[in-house]
This record gives sequence, structure tokens and C-alpha cells, in this order.
Amino acid sequence: MKILVTGGAGYIGSHTLVELIQSGYEVVVVDNYSNSCPESISRVERITGKKVRTYAGDVRDTELLNKIFTGQKIDGVIHFAGLKAVGESCQKPFEYYDNNLGGTIALVNAMKKYGCKKIVFSSSATVYGDPEKLPLDENCRVGGTTNPYGTSKYFQELMLRDLYASDKEWQVVLLRYFNPVGAHESGLIGEDPKGIPNNLTPYIAKVAIGELGEVGVFGNDYPTPDGTGVRDYIHVVDLAKGHVAAINKINKAGVYVYNLGTGIGYSVLEVIHAFEKACGHKIPYSIKPRRAGDIAACYANAERAKKELGWEAKLGIDEMCASLWKWQTQNPNGYRS
Ligand code: NAD
Ligand code: UFG
Repeated sequence: MKILVTGGAGYIGSHTLVELIQSGYEVVVVDNYSNSCPESISRVERITGKKVRTYAGDVRDTELLNKIFTGQKIDGVIHFAGLKAVGESCQKPFEYYDNNLGGTIALVNAMKKYGCKKIVFSSSATVYGDPEKLPLDENCRVGGTTNPYGTSKYFQELMLRDLYASDKEWQVVLLRYFNPVGAHESGLIGEDPKGIPNNLTPYIAKVAIGELGEVGVFGNDYPTPDGTGVRDYIHVVDLAKGHVAAINKINKAGVYVYNLGTGIGYSVLEVIHAFEKACGHKIPYSIKPRRAGDIAACYANAERAKKELGWEAKLGIDEMCASLWKWQTQNPNGYRS
């Protein structure tokens, strides 16, 4: 079975390629390297011992999609390609709508044309906006997003639901990721943010290695046990396996929605302390004002994925931090090392 992986050179995509290949799937990648580089694919090849056929280009490029779909039979698509920086999306909303919505439109049109009707889409817990209740289950209210990135995810979910409503042969899987962190156990692939990281764990890793001075903790007056923000961090390898489970299990038409999280929330301070254990020294931090747009707490009820996909996260916060630390120390400059 052959799976087209859009955005396969990226952080989650590269880990998913490894798990797909190791589960016996053939994979094909399309990526424009706007937030990644070909080296990640070479590393996937090193881990798996398999060559990965990669098309360098934009998922909005209809000609390129024609070429990909005419050259081979694609049985399903995992659609990671998209822009994902919350702050940047507020500065450049139309780039985000163009890239994210435009990518999904072009891709689905090509899939329709070539009769491929199985899509697994990278959605996000951000579609829940300010959580209606905790833990969040898949029936919780969606929408009410607070930035163009989140809104683009919400729109894409709606678009894919409309697709199914118009043609009941489609298999649409919407995977709502919570906070993916960590790296592959080999230390060969991991998250490689450009410039100063926005997200907590890559920032902590850069402080731990001495590249940045201290972690700014954005607020300690939230209604959480220690006052700092609480999130459901999920090991990227567990998340990658969630995609394989979805591809394996979903073989009937419909729209399927799954939270991919651990169900456990950790505070910013708990994550910093877990990372101290992994790297073996203290991490300097100081309390800063709250970051605009942040919510107090967000964690999943992941029971549906367990019941229907037979998938659950196995790796805990210590494995997340240890694997990130291994990736960081083995690749201090990411893929440019
Ligand atoms: P990433 O930036 O590492 O990967 C995205 C990949 O898509 C990159 O390799 C990039 O070059 C590529 N890409 C972007 N636009 C493209 C286009 N138009 N054509 C071809 N390639 C394109 O991000 P990631 O963390 O691996 O995220 C993957 C997906 O998961 C994204 O859709 C993201 O929104 C979603 N997601 C991520 C998180 C997270 O915290 N990392 C959380 C929830 C959802
Ligand atoms: N935080 C800090 N200091 C930092 C960075 C983050 O204290 O330097 C705090 C935040 O305030 C928050 C927590 O750490 O409480 C996690 O923040 P991240 O930026 O790592 O992650 P978010 O939960 O804000 O958002 C992430 C992705 C979104 C995605 C969302 C849900 O960036 O794209 O998870 O999946 F939508």
C-alpha cells in the first residue's frame, strides 16, 4: 500500500515516515522545504534503510500533483504540509490561508481526479479554542479559534466534512494533535525550528545547551496547580504511530475524528523540571507576563483513539525530554550540523 505524505520532510512528517516504512508501507513525499530540508529525508533513509521517493515542490502546484498521481497508484494521503506558527499567522494571515487552505484544495482536487479517496489530516487541539471542559473529547465545541493558523485548521476540518457530505465514498480522518514533543530514539531526526523557538520544549533545550540564557515562563497566575500553563505533551513517535493506526484501521467511508494526546497535563514548571532530569543540570527560568492568546490548560480525553484505533500513547514525559536532549546534543545546529 502506497501513502503520499505531504510535508513529509517536517518534524511530525519525518517521524511518521519512519513508522510507516517500518510497518511495511511504501511512502512518497511532497515537500517544498519551506520549513524543513532534504537532510531529514536522508536521515529517515538512514534509520529505515529504505529509499524515500521525494518530490520537491508545493502541494498547491497542480502540475506537480498530476505528475505524482499519474506516475503511480496512491492508496491514501497523510496531509501534513502547512504553515504552523501561531504568531506569524497573525502577521501574515493570507499567507496562512493561501498555503493551508489552498494546499488542501489543490490536493483534494488531485485526489478526486485520480480516484484516491482516503485522507488523514493534521488537525490540532487549537480547533477547540478556549476549552469548553477538560479533558477535551471529540464532541467538545470547536471554532472560536483565536488566530489565523487555528482558524485555517478549523476551516480545513469543515472543508473535509463537506467533501464527505458531497461524496460518501471518502474516508476522512481528522487527527487533532495536542502538543507534540521529543525526537526519534536514534537522535537522527527531531524538531529543527528556524531562529528562536516559539514552543516550550525546543526553547528549554536551547537554554539547556547554553544557546539561550533562560526560559521565560509565560504567566504563573493561571488557575492551575502551580499557576503555570498546563498542556498535554505527546511524544512525536507515539503521534507518528497514531497515523499508522489510522491508516491501518480506517477502511470504511466516513468522517472520523480523533484526539491524539496522552490525557495527562503537565505545567510549564513540571516540564522544566523533567528536562533538568534529562540533561542533568538546572535550567534557569524566570516568570514573565502571560503570552497573548494562551489558554490556562488543555489536555485530551484520548479514549476514542484507544477504543477505535487500538492506539494509545506509551511514552511519558521523561522519554520525551530524554529524546529531545539526545537530538539537541547530537545536532546542536539541527540538520545544519
Ligand atoms: P513542520 O513545519 O515541521 O512540517 C510541515 C512541512 O510541510 C514542512 O516540511 C514544510 O516545508 C512543508 N510545507 C509547508 N507548506 C507546504 C506547501 N505548500 N507545499 C509543500 N510542503 C509544504 O511542522 P510539523 O510540526 O511537522 O507539523 C505538521 C502538521 O501538523 C502541520 O499541518 C501542523 O499545522 C500540524 N500540527 C502541528 C503541531 C505542532 O505543535 N507541531 C500541532 C498540531 C498540528
Ligand atoms: N511557554 C512558556 N515559555 C515559552 C514557550 C511557551 O512559558 O518560551 C508556555 C506557554 O505559555 C504554554 C506552554 O508553555 O503554557 C506550551 O506552549 P507552546 O508554545 O509550546 O504550545 P501551545 O500549547 O501554545 O501550542 C502548540 C502549538 C500549536 C498547537 C497547540 C495545540 O504551537 O500550533 O500546541 O496542539 F495548536
